[in-house]
Amino acid sequence: MGDDRARRRLTFEIFRFNPEDPESVPHTDTFELDETEFMTLFIALNRIRETQDPGLQFDFACRSAICGSCGMMVNGRPALACRTLTSDLPGKIVLYPLPAFKLVGDLSVDTGTWFRAMSGRTEAWIHEHKPFDPDAVEDRMSDDLAAAIYEGDRCIECGCCVASCGVANLDETFLAGAGLNRVARFMMDPRDSRSGAEWFDIVAGDEGVFGCLGMMACADVCPKELPLLEVYAYLRRKALGARFVKARES
Ligand code: SF4
Ligand code: SF4
Ligand code: FES
Repeated sequence: MGDDRARRRLTFEIFRFNPEDPESVPHTDTFELDETEFMTLFIALNRIRETQDPGLQFDFACRSAICGSCGMMVNGRPALACRTLTSDLPGKIVLYPLPAFKLVGDLSVDTGTWFRAMSGRTEAWIHEHKPFDPDAVEDRMSDDLAAAIYEGDRCIECGCCVASCGVANLDETFLAGAGLNRVARFMMDPRDSRSGAEWFDIVAGDEGVFGCLGMMACADVCPKELPLLEVYAYLRRKALGARFVKARES
């Protein structure tokens, strides 16, 4: 970035609404700010709150793309504010809260309720059907499989994929990128004893991988660059295999 861009005067158009206040009306407020070198949206929003509007609501915790709390719509596209440099954006920056989640206020949304509901529906924990044996030898796992499971665990639950997904915006039960990734992570884990039929019921309905339209907006916006295309292909293969087994057994 050249010095000229570092001296830009940025205009922020920011959505404002407090759903707790009956007098509050959804609208946007405009703020201006001098751009500084290596300015992120995290820095810009804090500067606006410190110097212009202490009531502005937005979420941050880690400031380093780890906690997943700072997702918002940046010029129409879901992104993490803490890792978005203003130098990568035009001089006018329009910020809205992520859709598909309950609005807390201004740019702050409640992603936790959506993720808790998704975890409950998919029972996103290891299901071990064998009785516990304290003397059993530890099961070994190949490095490749451990790496594949770890890849799925890199999701930071930011909700960007959910916000970008047309199906998830219309149907709150649709699993979207984060949910389908979560299912695949447990499905490939050999410690999880769920059967193909059990997985089929979780992932094969309209709220699962067969409800996905496959245009991959989710993968385009995922800040952790999770391989969602491969995840959906894996789930489709598994679901079709389970359907075949079910059909043979019935
Ligand atoms: S590919 Fe599927 S999960 Fe991803 S945004 Fe499109 S419909 Fe949603
Ligand atoms: S899959 Fe990617 S975009 Fe979706 S919640 Fe996880 S990290 Fe965020
Ligand atoms: S503040 Fe934690 S991901 Fe942005």
